[in-house]
Amino acid sequence: MDKFIDSIRKKEAESHLKMYSENELFSGDGWLGKPVKTIMDLLSLFADKEDITALDLGCGVGRNCIPIAQIFSDKHCTIDCVDILEYAIEKLVDNAKKCSVEKSINGIVSPIDDFRIEPGHYDLIIAVSALEHMETEESLKRKLFEIRDGLKPGGVVCIIMNSEITETDLFSNEPLIPQFEINIESEKLRILLHEVFNGFEVLKETMKEQSYEVPREFIALLKSKVATFTAKKK
Ligand SMILES: C[S@@+](CC[C@H](N)C(=O)[O-])C[C@H]1O[C@@H](n2cnc3c(N)ncnc32)[C@H](O)[C@@H]1O
Repeated sequence: MDKFIDSIRKKEAESHLKMYSENELFSGDGWLGKPVKTIMDLLSLFADKEDITALDLGCGVGRNCIPIAQIFSDKHCTIDCVDILEYAIEKLVDNAKKCSVEKSINGIVSPIDDFRIEPGHYDLIIAVSALEHMETEESLKRKLFEIRDGLKPGGVVCIIMNSEITETDLFSNEPLIPQFEINIESEKLRILLHEVFNGFEVLKETMKEQSYEVPREFIALLKSKVATFTAKKK
């Protein structure tokens, strides 16, 4: 693996380890406090289905997959939950037990790059703030096609991904190298999503600027354009 990616992944692992060990899921004002509303809003689409198979790429400690399993607790629901960080999957399994959904949650320690998505297997595939951590734009493109093919007819994809990311040292205002393996232009990402999911019914598409502080060596101000894309396979 290239040195740049290796160094990003080490720092990324440290910062997520800190985040997950110091914060409880579904408490506090940070991003672990509540699930992503766009994803929760999609779940009514599956009201008539008895069996749901879902995939959460870069699942973290269960912020989205656990509420999905809870909402589908009266159905037969299986969610494959993939994260590169062993500690995230350990916490996910604990959190699933605490929320009584451990039967639905299948934790898998793997880089998204290496996790092969079985064709025609899933009703729902989500990836929140995760695909920007794949190794290259080429591998991202291949994974997006795998996601497309991995959905059953009527299946739904939800991708939330940072683009055009900048980081600056909050105190000196010096630009820093963004700690993301992929830093794609927003318009290029938009075009790519339309190319891959051509023929799908687009349910939601937004590109919103956001900025927040992230722990680096010192504190950095991260700015990005966040793409939210949800679409249904016909
Ligand atoms: C910002 S967190 C988001 C977690 C979760 N999707 C959520 O919304 O709460 C990104 C997660 O992706 C994981 N991750 C980073 N790079 C990854 C990779 N290449 N393959 C799999 N998971 C990765 C991190 O360990 C982390 O748990």
